[in-house]
Amino acid sequence: MRLSLRFIVPLVLVLAGVAYAVLPVADNLTVRWFVRDLEIRANLVANTIHESVRELDQAGQPERLVQFFAKIAEDERTYAIAFCSSAAARPVATATLPSAITCADLDRFTQPEGQIIQTPTGRLLVSVRPLATDRSPDGRLVMVHDMSFVERRSAETRRYFFYFFAALAAIVSLITVAIAQLSWRGWVQGTRALLRGEGLLRPAAEAQRREFQPIASDLRELIRDITGERQPRDAERAGWSGATIRGILHDELREQEVIVVSNREPYLHECVDGAIEVHRPASGLVTALEPIMRTCSGTWIAHGSGSADREVVDRHDRIGVPPDNPAYRLRRVWLTEEEEAGYYYGLSNEGLWPLCHIAHVRPIFRAADWEQYVAVNRRFAQAVADEAASADPIVLVQDYHFALLPRMIRETLPAATVVTFWHIPWPNPEAFSICPWRQELLDGLLGSSILGFHTQFHCNNFVDTVDRLLEARVDRETFTVSYRGELTAVNRYPISIEWPPLPMHTTRPVDACRLIVRARHQLPPEQLLGVGVDRLDYTKGIEERFRAVERLFERQPEWIGRFSFIQIAAPSRSGIEEYRQYQARVRAAVDRINRRFDHGGPPAIILLVSHHEPDQVYEYYRAADLCFVNSLHDGMNLVAKEFLAARDDERGVLILSQFTGAARELPEAMIVNPYDSDQCAAALNAALLMPEHEQRARMRLMRGLVGEFNVYRWAGRMLIDAASMRNRGRLLKRSGQAE
Ligand code: G6P
Repeated sequence: MRLSLRFIVPLVLVLAGVAYAVLPVADNLTVRWFVRDLEIRANLVANTIHESVRELDQAGQPERLVQFFAKIAEDERTYAIAFCSSAAARPVATATLPSAITCADLDRFTQPEGQIIQTPTGRLLVSVRPLATDRSPDGRLVMVHDMSFVERRSAETRRYFFYFFAALAAIVSLITVAIAQLSWRGWVQGTRALLRGEGLLRPAAEAQRREFQPIASDLRELIRDITGERQPRDAERAGWSGATIRGILHDELREQEVIVVSNREPYLHECVDGAIEVHRPASGLVTALEPIMRTCSGTWIAHGSGSADREVVDRHDRIGVPPDNPAYRLRRVWLTEEEEAGYYYGLSNEGLWPLCHIAHVRPIFRAADWEQYVAVNRRFAQAVADEAASADPIVLVQDYHFALLPRMIRETLPAATVVTFWHIPWPNPEAFSICPWRQELLDGLLGSSILGFHTQFHCNNFVDTVDRLLEARVDRETFTVSYRGELTAVNRYPISIEWPPLPMHTTRPVDACRLIVRARHQLPPEQLLGVGVDRLDYTKGIEERFRAVERLFERQPEWIGRFSFIQIAAPSRSGIEEYRQYQARVRAAVDRINRRFDHGGPPAIILLVSHHEPDQVYEYYRAADLCFVNSLHDGMNLVAKEFLAARDDERGVLILSQFTGAARELPEAMIVNPYDSDQCAAALNAALLMPEHEQRARMRLMRGLVGEFNVYRWAGRMLIDAASMRNRGRLLKRSGQAE
């Protein structure tokens, strides 16, 4: 609207100015035209009545002449008419002749400027013509025209002018605003396309691409200046990839070793019917980190939780992974049942998980769990020390399971660069301060050189929490915290996925996936499908999602039997009562809704409570018409990004909760409030009706963004920041030594 006003206001002002200047000129012109017409008329009348006047004058019958004039003056424009036989005579005239007109001073009416006189009844035009008769050789005819009709016309003209300019202003404003809006949209799309390295039109001609490349580089440079982000040359040229990460490790980090620590391991060995199977866990963290580790090798330390994990490791509890083509080392850490119960189920998932997510589940804090948490963090710190081949490795600590680990690593390896990434939201200081070990947790995290969150909002919350709860110096300009003489940088690194993701190399065409999935669930080929993929976790809003499907069928019963929703739900943390209850509630909701809308045809909701490998999940993404992600609160949510990556056909609609980090990056998704079932149902309806061209347009923008802002960029930016920090540290040390 502001953009439109910027055009409309000056336009209307200019047009009003023009109208103001033009009106008197037009008025003047109209008067002149009418005067000229009346003059011609006066000539005509004089010529026509000449003979009659001559005869009546000759006959010496002034009364008849007056009668004759009175007849002519019946015409509405003729006000009066008179005959002056000489300058000394009294005019023979109709009664209407103004007294100001006498035969003695007729000459003044022969001047153009003297022709118009003002009388109490209005303006009059006086025209004098010679009319000689035998008796009066100096005779003159005086014709007085009523000018009031000219004024009426002029007022009318002014009114027309006003309407004309008003209409003109409206039309020109409309056209201008429409063009401005289109150009603005085009410009925004063009800029985004440029930033993604495409041309303004798709597909971009090579020449056009080259032409716009400098502008794209300038824009990227500008963005980097604003965000203070550094980017290596090859990422700038070809986008972020595994090669970029290798380049950073080689050039900036001089092949320094990288150690990753997380609770969840990237590969689990499970004993199934006496045979060992390799499983990939349903974890956003693993999805993001695994491609990075495949690229940069190094060591990944994680809890060995698979039933056959111990059987496959070497005597140092290590194994090369991925199993079919080892690229890095997985070091497994074993936990007793008691440790797992206290550290993983207890403090991590009954305490910190609900504490950080606003999902209205009350956190539980037990002192015994805290003790296990401290002990297990110490165990992992020992594992880092064991695995480190140098005194200053780069250690990437993952998530809320290891809040104490950064400080512990710093104690054993003071020269290490510890980069911690918190994969879940960080709450506001009031919410966080209910944790009995709030200070210990903050103290532990501030052992990191860099601490990362998905969004700026979470960075702000963290810094506010530190400011409120610790004796630390917070610099909000550089976003650093100085605590115990050490500096921690708090940065935003939005996590993402590999691009293209691994399953896309082997997946079937979209049409085949559509057929296979529908056949698998005995659905007709034309059945419309929605898909949800989550761990069975109360933060994911699965119950709310089903409520939205139910609401859709209530509001638009025409979808019953034509649309089904498939929910893939990976069982998760089932050792926790809250999760067990959640699973029961989800199952009950499906039964209830399916019974309610049972019409003998395809079910409303198909719930698949089991683990699915990534290639199976991608098959569902590709078979679906829409993907519905409605977490009640989520750090990022990679399912949203995976769905986009899966749709190389540029079809399908993403419905996304406003409470995910992903919603900040993907405004082209249909953004919804998961608590508002009417709004979600309306979004489902709109998604099912969305025309193909709109799906394509939205998909292109979102796929372009995720393709560029992929997981290599996420990791690459952290590694570059770590490298700068190390270089700065080295420089300071050297200058300190020199002093
Ligand atoms: C979230 C957490 C991860 C965790 C994943 C799966 O994404 O941030 O740390 O790995 O959920 O949960 P799980 O408890 O099965 O590892």
